[in-house]
Amino acid sequence: MCGIIGYSGPRKTSPLLLEGLRRLEYRGYDSAGIAVGREGRSDNSLGIVKAVGKIAALKAAMPADLDGAWGIGHTRWATHGGVTLANAHPHTDCSGKIAVVHNGIIENHMSLKAMLEKKGCVFVSETDTEVIPQLIAHYYKGNLLEAVRAAVQSLRGTYGIACIHADEPGRIVGARNGSPLVVGVGAGEMFLASDVTAMVAYTNKVVYLNDGEIVDITQDSYSIIDRDENRVDKKVDEVTWELGSIEKGDFPCYMEKEIFEQPESIARAISGRLDVENSTAKLGGLNLERRHLSGIGRVRIIAAGTSWHAGLVGAHLLEHVARIPAQSELASEIRYRNPVVERDSLWFTVSQSGETADSLYAMREIQRKGATVLGICNVVGSTIARESDGGIYVHSGPEIAVASTKAFTSQLAAFYLFTLLVARMKDMSRDEGISFLSTLQSVPDLVRRTLAQRDKVQAMAKKYHKAKDFLFLGRGILYPIALEGALKLKEISYIHAEGCSAGEMKHGPIALVSPEVPSVFLVSDDYLREKTISNIREIKARGGPVIAVGVEGDDETKSLVDDFIPVPKSDSRFYPFTMVIPLQLFAYFCALELGRDVDQPRNLAKSVTVE
Ligand code: F6R
Repeated sequence: MCGIIGYSGPRKTSPLLLEGLRRLEYRGYDSAGIAVGREGRSDNSLGIVKAVGKIAALKAAMPADLDGAWGIGHTRWATHGGVTLANAHPHTDCSGKIAVVHNGIIENHMSLKAMLEKKGCVFVSETDTEVIPQLIAHYYKGNLLEAVRAAVQSLRGTYGIACIHADEPGRIVGARNGSPLVVGVGAGEMFLASDVTAMVAYTNKVVYLNDGEIVDITQDSYSIIDRDENRVDKKVDEVTWELGSIEKGDFPCYMEKEIFEQPESIARAISGRLDVENSTAKLGGLNLERRHLSGIGRVRIIAAGTSWHAGLVGAHLLEHVARIPAQSELASEIRYRNPVVERDSLWFTVSQSGETADSLYAMREIQRKGATVLGICNVVGSTIARESDGGIYVHSGPEIAVASTKAFTSQLAAFYLFTLLVARMKDMSRDEGISFLSTLQSVPDLVRRTLAQRDKVQAMAKKYHKAKDFLFLGRGILYPIALEGALKLKEISYIHAEGCSAGEMKHGPIALVSPEVPSVFLVSDDYLREKTISNIREIKARGGPVIAVGVEGDDETKSLVDDFIPVPKSDSRFYPFTMVIPLQLFAYFCALELGRDVDQPRNLAKSVTVE
């Protein structure tokens, strides 16, 4: 949430900051702004421009002559204070010499504000952030680093900040507590950003800051100190993302690109991780000994949103296939619940971004209680990936659309690999292992064949997009897919949708059924098929339109429903991979029909770094 960028170097600063913000826009798009240092002007003042709305609005508001030698920028997802120009970042102190951009929430801003007002500070915004530049000014005695160091000691809450002072040319000071911050190391130029997408066009050398660290950046150098003011020498990591992977290419938007990338992204998640000879999986990053793995008594999964749905599929699979009790829980719930952490439990945190605040804090709490927590993350070097005790990178590549699609199917792949590994340590035979493994290998192709239903799903969206409410229903391993289908539709089309277990339908949701409320059923060909078909009949008997995503050749279901989207026949345990595809496409095409901003839906942001 909220994107931050800072730059010190010889390039034209304002266009570079604008371009960086464009790449960070998915982190928030309520307002945006930049501040640049302009050494040499008679008053040494900062040049600041802000706009309400997206980066395009900021670009339009940018005076042609606004440039400087160093600067900071911000794209906002509003927390404290409405979406107004006054609340847009950067914020300054009363003198206008210090500018700050901030991602996070300063919890004690009211008391700090009262203290600063008594000293004569005048506040012009409703934000929590404004106390930061005012506090830095309060401590400033000619050295920005010293002032930031003093100021952050008074801050409670979360922050990733970048600060500049008009009188200290080329210097950017950043500080992190709970919100991500990365230094980009160039040749004769330095970057600071909330994530690497902002600077991957210029450098692939990055240094990730940890909580409590402060970085002092100039054009040619960076130095980091920790909470105790000790200098920290950190490893410079290399980012392997290609610039092309964060571009839309020939697609009209990122979401469509990411949906259609899934055969490749799933193949990447699996690649090099199958041990065909022993019909098992190889997951080197787990950092667990064989003895530890074979002694797991229970698996517990914590995550949010779509990642939680992947966890629900993972839990079902682990119990069903590996015979290990497993649960997937919402990070925002578990972190405040004082959960019982059993000695033989293995925990997973699932997160595309690796920065979701609830998932991160829940993970830290579980680790504090002594458990091993593995991460299933996409973003390499993200906080959850670094702080977990080991894990599985899903290698989806950058996911830019706010609604998660390809990361979800790659998270599923990670759970299928892990399940195969532990199942083979228990009762799964070599033959069963071979069958499971070869179906997993065929998933990219199954998904490719399902994507061929594109036009049919688009026609269905044209038919149904005016409905105000939808039900999504599935059973067993497809129940989480029903939840995911409903979430996708809500997020990007703003149509109300409820995902429920088809078995629960009669316990309440059926009251919603009417000719105006379509139901989307997921129909497997396993032991639950007959039960699901009975549920479809119950809806049809009450006049509700039914769409079914089912298995090709299932003529009975096809004849019963209004619209039928087939997926290729496979081992029923693998239908989550294929059955989610028509639901992603359906949400996408409904959103297009309704003229929604598919990649950046209202009120949302990609990476939820505040509670
Ligand atoms: C839904 C979506 C969100 C995220 C959730 C967790 O399309 O994108 O529900 O899944 O915010 O995000 P990560 O996986 O980054 O922890």
